[in-house]
Amino acid sequence: MRVAIITLSDSGCAGQREDRSGPVIRALVEAAGYTVVHTALLPDGVEPLASELRRLCDNDLADLILTTGGTGFSPTDLTPEATLSVVERPAPGIAEAMRWQSLQITPRAMLSRAAAGIRKGTLIVNLPGSPKAVRECLEFILPSLAHGLEILRGSAGNCASPE
Ligand code: MTE
Repeated sequence: MRVAIITLSDSGCAGQREDRSGPVIRALVEAAGYTVVHTALLPDGVEPLASELRRLCDNDLADLILTTGGTGFSPTDLTPEATLSVVERPAPGIAEAMRWQSLQITPRAMLSRAAAGIRKGTLIVNLPGSPKAVRECLEFILPSLAHGLEILRGSAGNCASPE
């Protein structure tokens, strides 16, 4: 399975802050057997991310796109809006599961507005911005994502054996 990683950060884009979350995602997905085919560092805002998501999905360049950052309450946090503007089939359970799990760790997990959904054959999942939050969320959802991706890409037919 091919993974694209997109980090949303105005300060990262301006060269003022190192992207520490993208590398955490890479390490976790590679350990799970995925291949990272693309990484990008984009400024906050709807259109840069929306057009990158459309490009990756519509040209079948990735099976899974993981974004990090821009899910909170700052006026520039627009990752969920960009994601939902391109998604054809929402997959709200993934973000609900991340929040449920994360709330066991910090009540501030309720502040992530992360979204997830499918465009064509690609699953897009928003992760929060901090490396700690990325790890906590991704470690929880990755095992189940694998099954969803197999169904999405047509290599698994049903859910008869859930585990
Ligand atoms: N989720 C987990 N698992 N761990 C965390 O530390 N931090 C929260 C939340 N989700 C956090 C978390 C905080 S403090 C914020 S503000 C939101 O994610 C949004 O983060 P973002 O704007 O960097 O995307």
